[in-house]
Amino acid sequence: MAKLNRVTVLAPAKLNLALDVVGTLPNGYHDLDMTMQAITLYEKVVLARSSGLNLSLPGSPVAANDSNTAIKAAIAFFRYTGLLAGVDITIYKNVPVRAGMAGGSADAAAVLVGLNALYGAHLSMSELCALGAKIGADVPFALMGGTCRVQGVGDVMKALPPCPDCWFTVVMPDYGVSTPEAFAAYDKVGSSTHPDCEAQEKAVRAEDLAGVCAAAGNALEECSGAKDNEAIKAALCEHGALTALMTGSGAAVFGIFDDENDKINLSLDDVGGELLIVSQFTLYGNCRKGRRPEFLSAARPEIAIPMYEKFVAICREKGYHVETGEFGAYMEVESLNDGPFTLIVDSADLDAPKKQ
Ligand code: C5P
Repeated sequence: MAKLNRVTVLAPAKLNLALDVVGTLPNGYHDLDMTMQAITLYEKVVLARSSGLNLSLPGSPVAANDSNTAIKAAIAFFRYTGLLAGVDITIYKNVPVRAGMAGGSADAAAVLVGLNALYGAHLSMSELCALGAKIGADVPFALMGGTCRVQGVGDVMKALPPCPDCWFTVVMPDYGVSTPEAFAAYDKVGSSTHPDCEAQEKAVRAEDLAGVCAAAGNALEECSGAKDNEAIKAALCEHGALTALMTGSGAAVFGIFDDENDKINLSLDDVGGELLIVSQFTLYGNCRKGRRPEFLSAARPEIAIPMYEKFVAICREKGYHVETGEFGAYMEVESLNDGPFTLIVDSADLDAPKKQ
């Protein structure tokens, strides 16, 4: 196979369909029970072979220093594999920061998966998860994608069947929330909300969207300090959301919709924040040039794909920001990984295979 010089990884953000805090661990971390869902909002991470280790985040206020999860992931990868090599990393951030959507974890996961492909290291998913868990609590899920029941500190994961087909409208207010501060506040005040993750898992398995919504909730919501939550949730529900809740430690709030027209009628004035309309139909895997990627995370792809395409067309017509991923034209490399990532390899980034 030709040598790979550069790879682009699209790594999905997540929403918490449920988040419960079930205990505190001796190291101060919290024992959690959650349902996590990957969504069609992607970090775009470009990795190029290099002799050094460099990070740039064009247009983003996020610092490109050693505490960045992408740098931590690259160092962990090179230490573990023993490869004497480097990488230039460019991250085009699409996922809001301090949102509870695991953008930083998606960046780390993308670096691990991308380096694995770039250097042909063949690390298994469990090796990548073990490396990722040391970088951030949400990195193992960022590597897994799809719909998962996630427990422990984020390291105990059970892949579920795809969440019943639905749409999410995510509202990011003009402030963020610090995760350590939200957990510290929880330690002081606790929560009256404890979602039933077991019931939600059963509802996911039964393809029962009403049941998924009935069991949705977030134990960090009351203590997150995200002051606009109630107003945003009310606006989402007025516009037809089956339910609305905060994701992770906040500050983003989302509604779950089963009717594409409802959420499209929602306007920025209704919610007062950045509005992102996404779905759980995450694009998976790689495809050959000219072929479509699979929508593996949709419960019924034959229904989901036309629904998705119609939805994207309506959104574009109305001038909404809609994330669809980038796929198709550039993909020439198959089966680089098995995770929830779309890897894009431009033919110009491949050295031609040597003639025999
Ligand atoms: O691991 P990560 O950097 O994503 O976590 C950020 C912070 O969130 C931790 O420093 C910790 O304060 C808190 N946290 C927690 N329990 C978890 C996950 C995160 O207390 N299960």
